Amino acid sequence: MATTLDPPRNCKLCPRLVAYRLSSRHDNPDWHNAPVPSFGPVTAKLLIVGLAPGLKGANRTGRPFTGDYAGDLLYSTLIKFGFARGVFDARPDDGLTLIDAQITNAVRCVPPENKPTPAEIRTCRPYLEKTIDSLKGLHAIVALGRIAHDAVIKSFGETLSAHPFAHGATHELDGPMLFDSYHCSRYNTNTGVLTNAMFEAVFASVRAYIDRNA
Ligand code: URA
Repeated sequence: MATTLDPPRNCKLCPRLVAYRLSSRHDNPDWHNAPVPSFGPVTAKLLIVGLAPGLKGANRTGRPFTGDYAGDLLYSTLIKFGFARGVFDARPDDGLTLIDAQITNAVRCVPPENKPTPAEIRTCRPYLEKTIDSLKGLHAIVALGRIAHDAVIKSFGETLSAHPFAHGATHELDGPMLFDSYHCSRYNTNTGVLTNAMFEAVFASVRAYIDRNA
């Protein structure tokens, strides 16, 4: 189990990610270039789990999904369903606040080509477990994509065969309900794998679930 909610800035657990971070720090010394901490209050009823920071997005700005294309759809959807307030301006100081929601990533450091290895996902999982444990009022989790889904399922000690990933599926866990969505990446939205309507339908279900149960 990790002893802190967020990895330290100089986390050395994944050599490949450390090297990538250091090379990015060399090229762009004014960027965040460190593990990206979760964003949102500890009173969150909803936890959104992404994949990993994007190089020029969260790795640059230090806030999950901030500066990434994926964040435009995520934050506008959160505002629409009452999980965020303010104006999302892709900067950590844009004043946007999350309401009853927290955002984290399955892997906290930017991976080359957005692809963490199975070992990196496993190594970072204790931080996800610790984050989940810290949210005492948690009712729902949204997993953005299969990697996030698998990390959440394993965090609860469940098996992937009992809980296969599928967009729109729900999984009853020990405590919260897990809602699966395709990741809101540029690739998925450009190819039509994920439409705005499909994404909003997931958050409409989450909103209704939380309002019924919270
Ligand atoms: N930015 C993040 O922080 N996480 C993702 O999964 C994608 C973009």
